[in-house]
Amino acid sequence: MGNRVYNFSAGPACLPESVIKQAQKDLWDIFDSGIGIMEHSHRNKYFDRVTHETEADCRAVGDVPEEYSIFWMQGGATSQCYMVPANFLAEDRTADYFDTGKWAQDSIAEVHHYGKLNVCGSSKDAGYNHIPKGDAVKYSEDPAYVQFTSNNTIMGTEFKALPETPGGSFLVADMSSNIYSRPIDVSRYGLIYAGAQKNLGPSGTTLLIAKTDLIENPVRELPKMMRYGLMAKKEGRFNTPNTFGVYLMGQVFKWILAEGGLVAMDEMNTEKAGILYDFIDSDSFYTPHALKEDRSLMNITFKCPTAELDGVFLEQAEKLGLTTLAGHRSIGGMRASIYNAFPKAGVVALVEFMKAFALEHAGAKA
Ligand SMILES: Cc1ncc(COP(=O)(O)O)c(C=O)c1O
Repeated sequence: MGNRVYNFSAGPACLPESVIKQAQKDLWDIFDSGIGIMEHSHRNKYFDRVTHETEADCRAVGDVPEEYSIFWMQGGATSQCYMVPANFLAEDRTADYFDTGKWAQDSIAEVHHYGKLNVCGSSKDAGYNHIPKGDAVKYSEDPAYVQFTSNNTIMGTEFKALPETPGGSFLVADMSSNIYSRPIDVSRYGLIYAGAQKNLGPSGTTLLIAKTDLIENPVRELPKMMRYGLMAKKEGRFNTPNTFGVYLMGQVFKWILAEGGLVAMDEMNTEKAGILYDFIDSDSFYTPHALKEDRSLMNITFKCPTAELDGVFLEQAEKLGLTTLAGHRSIGGMRASIYNAFPKAGVVALVEFMKAFALEHAGAKA
């Protein structure tokens, strides 16, 4: 491991080691062109190759059907909060949104600029510790689309089953923090978007997978930079894209394919999260934030018996090379983010530390 530590950051997050090593080489000279990846024009044959390989590998990883476009945008996943209603929600229509935490709320907050909002399910009153389902979900009569955040990075909850969409509506998913962590049926969605900085690469690039016929004609006149259809047609290169971001995402797709694809990712992620959750469940010292049935495999949130002990935990963990474990400021405690590239050995090391810490402070548990 050299001088690298176990980085539990929620994002930007750790990348596969082989990807970083390849990027080190390609920064200097990619495809024997004598020029590094960050120095190439986004319109030359080398970057054509990067774009087309990244798209093809993204399609292969997610088994993305032909009738879906794959492209990239800038402005983070946050820009998609307004891009989605701008493109899909006419003024007289309603869109249904699941309110499952901060990232869902950020999307909800932009809807009123464009059309009407129905919050079809919310776990706000329960501190966002679960995913609303069954009778707790009330769709509007004829929503234009239904949007949900497939994994709630801050709270540590995850949709295990897809929401059923009423009538002719389609699903929109903010998949920023669990995209390609398990097999996916893309044909169930109208649009998927994901900021890259958790499971796909560096920050500053957002991946979009969209059903092409849905994005061809936005519901209103929009500036060019806001038109999904145009961005898709131009392969994410209408203006100068984050070339390094697209390149690195491509390297991550190659890594996923080499590891055995999404079935292998799922197995690995289930095993890693299982090690941590099994321990938390077996030891009354730590309290998990999310209800068991909706727990995320990517972001694992828990607390010590007191906030003071949370602070001691974080300090001691840091000294052992278990870093960036602090929970989001809105919920406190700890958050272990263990995306695809996070090594199992780091999870095992964290559990060993948690065991020792619980023993040492057993008296603090009332
Ligand atoms: C689920 C989710 N959506 C959206 C965002 C916002 O992403 P960005 O900072 O790229 O705009 C995040 C960031 O962590 C996230 O976890």
